Amino acid sequence: MADAGSPESEPQRLWGGRFEEAPDALVQAYTSSIQTDLLLFHHDIAGSRAHARMLAAQGIIDSTDAERILKGLDQVESEIESGGFEINHELEDIHTHVEARLSQIIGADAAGRLHTARSRNDQVALDTRMFVRDAIVQSVGAVRGLQAALIELAERSDGVYLPGYTHLQRAQPVLLAHHLLAYLEMLDRDAERLVDSFARADIMPLGSAALAGAAYPLDREAVADELGFEAVSRNSIDAVSSRDYIAEYLANAAICMVNVSRLCEDVILWSSAEFGVLQFGDAFTTGSSIMPQKRNPDIAELARGRSGKVVGHLTGLLTTLKGLPLAYNRDLQEDKSGLFDTAETLIGTLHVLARALLTAQVHGARARAMVDSDPFILATDYADYLTRAGVPFREAHGVVGRLVKLCEERNCALGDLSLDDLQREHSAFGADAVGMTVQFALESRDVLGGTAPKQVSTALEAAKQRLQLQPASQDSTPAAPSPETRPETGLNRAQRRAAARQQGRR
Ligand code: ARG
Repeated sequence: MADAGSPESEPQRLWGGRFEEAPDALVQAYTSSIQTDLLLFHHDIAGSRAHARMLAAQGIIDSTDAERILKGLDQVESEIESGGFEINHELEDIHTHVEARLSQIIGADAAGRLHTARSRNDQVALDTRMFVRDAIVQSVGAVRGLQAALIELAERSDGVYLPGYTHLQRAQPVLLAHHLLAYLEMLDRDAERLVDSFARADIMPLGSAALAGAAYPLDREAVADELGFEAVSRNSIDAVSSRDYIAEYLANAAICMVNVSRLCEDVILWSSAEFGVLQFGDAFTTGSSIMPQKRNPDIAELARGRSGKVVGHLTGLLTTLKGLPLAYNRDLQEDKSGLFDTAETLIGTLHVLARALLTAQVHGARARAMVDSDPFILATDYADYLTRAGVPFREAHGVVGRLVKLCEERNCALGDLSLDDLQREHSAFGADAVGMTVQFALESRDVLGGTAPKQVSTALEAAKQRLQLQPASQDSTPAAPSPETRPETGLNRAQRRAAARQQGRR
C-alpha cells in the first residue's frame, strides 16, 4: 500500500500521482467538506495518535517518526483550537488538512508515514463513530437534565389540577404533576434508546483501510483500547460502508425531538391567555416588535419547529444510504451535516427547555378554576358512582348522559343537581352523590399509574430514586464524555479480548 508521499513543494492533495491536471476549481468547491467536517478535528487527531503509536509498537514505522508525528499532531491540534488554522478547499476534508499541515511541520517523510495501513475511508468511519459516541453521552445527559427540570416543576405544582383532554376536549381532571410525569416517562424511553444504541456505535473500524483490510500486521485491539472502544469491527467492507449507527442516532434523536415537541405544544397552549396555566420567566420569554403587551414562548415554538428538521435529517440519511452499493461511496460524505446539526439541535433544545422550565411560573388557581367551573368534567365519576353501586357501566353511562342533557336544559352543572334530580334518573344514587368534589374524583383514581395524589407522589419519589437526579442546577451543561461516563455495553473488555483472541483476531 503506497503512502501518501507527495513532494514537499506540493504537500497538499493526497492523490495527485496519476493525474495530469489539477481538479477544476468548481470540482474542488463542490467536493470539499472541510467547512462541515472541521468539527471532527479532535477525533481525527486522537485517531491519528493511536494509529501512529500502534504502527510504531508493531515496528511498521520507526519510533523517531512516530515521535515526530505525535509532536506535530499536538501542534496541529492547538492551531485548530486557537482558530489560527488555514482552510483550503483544495484539501477537501479534515483528514487531508491535518495531514497536509503535519507535513509542513514535520516534513513530508515522517508525515507521509502516518497514512500507512490507513485510508480515509476507515479514518472517517472512525471519526464519526467517535463523534456519535460523544453525541450519545451528551444527549443522554441533556435528557436527564430536562427530566430533572420536569421533576422540579412537578414538585412545585403540588395540589394543582387541571382538565385532562382527549380530542382536545375537556375529559377528566388530572394533577398537573401527573401530566408532567407523562413526559418524564417518554424521556426515560428516549434515554434508554440512546444508551442502548451506544454499543453499536462503539466499534473501532481502523484497520479496514479502503475496504479490504490493511496489508500490515496491525494491533487493532491496541487502537481500540487507546480510543476507548469496546470492540473492533469484524468485517472491513461493512466497517467502511455502514452508517446505520448514525441513522440510529438520528432516529433516536428524532423520536426524542418529537416527544419534546409535544411537551412544547402543551407549554405553548398553557402559555396562552385561554389556558393561562404556566408562563416561562422573563429571561426565557420573548417579546413582539410591534405589540408591546406580548409574551411569546418562542423557545418552545422553535423546539417544535426544529423537531421537523431533525426528522428530515433522518429521512435524508436513510434516503442517501438506500441505493448505495458496497463499499465506500462519496455519497457517504453527506452523512455529517445532518448528524452534526441533529446533535446540536437535540442537545441545545433539551438544555434550553430544562432551563426555561426551571423559571416557569405555575398559575395553580387558574388551572384549578378551569376544572371547578366546568359543568360536566366529573361526568365519568357520576357513572363510576352508579357502577360501584352495582349498576352495569353501560347503563350508568346512559343515565349520566341524560343527567348532562338535563343540566344543559337548565343551564346548570352536574354538581347543582339535587338528590331528587339524580334519583329520578336512577334510584341507586345516594346523598353522597350530590355535589361530588374534584378531590373525590382525583382520589378515586387510585390505581397504579393513576392520577390520585397518593399515586402521583409515589410516582414522583420513584422517578427521583430511579434517575438518581441531582437537584436541577442553573448550569446543567452535560459533562464531557469519558470512558467512565459511557453507558454499559455488556461484555467487559477483558472478556471481549479473550474471545477475540480465541477467534484468532489480531
Ligand atoms: N470526506 C470523506 C467523507 O467524509 C472522507 C473519505 C473520502 N474518501 C475518498 N476516497 N474520497 O466521506
